[in-house]
Amino acid sequence: MNESKERVNYPPARGPEARSKRAAPLSRMTDWAQNWIGAVLRPGDTALDLTAGNGHDTAFLYRMVGATGRVIAFDIQQEALQRTGERLHGQEFSCVTALSEGPPHSGTGVYLVADCHSRLERYVTGPVMALMANLGYCPGGNRSLTTRSDTSCTALRKALERLLPGGRASVVVYPGHAGGAEEAAAVRELLCALSADEWQVMELTAANRRAAPHLLLAARKGG
Ligand SMILES: C[S@@+](CC[C@H](N)C(=O)[O-])C[C@H]1O[C@@H](n2cnc3c(N)ncnc32)[C@H](O)[C@@H]1O
Repeated sequence: MNESKERVNYPPARGPEARSKRAAPLSRMTDWAQNWIGAVLRPGDTALDLTAGNGHDTAFLYRMVGATGRVIAFDIQQEALQRTGERLHGQEFSCVTALSEGPPHSGTGVYLVADCHSRLERYVTGPVMALMANLGYCPGGNRSLTTRSDTSCTALRKALERLLPGGRASVVVYPGHAGGAEEAAAVRELLCALSADEWQVMELTAANRRAAPHLLLAARKGG
């Protein structure tokens, strides 16, 4: 595997920042997603970001799991991984960049994987406490490179299988762009099919804005 690794100081940005985050008005689905996920993550946990994009969620997950934890983040766009890496470096996080297919990772830190999230079993073998997927296209990036129903659902199915009891998943879907409504419906169907004995599934929508992003949430019972 072609891997470069750089270690820098890790700032424990949990207390005051987490408090101000909780106090902030929750007008965006991405904020709701982070609040939902952040409530269960602890230092040392493993978390997945299925769509690294500009790195906001990857950086958030790493703040939650800390230097003893692990975040594995996927994106098919090299530019997105680069932006995510810059965000991590800028905030003095550890960063490991896996730029080619390789064996599953077991160390700590952030792994930026340049591959389709539907192939996540190549990189994720153990259980995970949380997973985030912010679907659609990357703001500020190539808008034609959106996530797709088939690969998104494959990735989510595989990621949900790895979720520990007590673990949580968040998926932000965007019905407003081409293919987005179909993808949103497919993801919703996938999550709604999860057994109510084992899963709690919820949905958050802006009730008066049909094409606005909405948030699908799943929690594995137990833990
Ligand atoms: C809405 S953005 C993600 C935003 C990101 N979570 C953040 O915090 O900035 C969606 C990203 O999904 C990526 N993507 C699209 N198809 C993908 C796939 N099959 N596997 C992994 N990433 C994919 C796009 O390249 C894009 O960067």
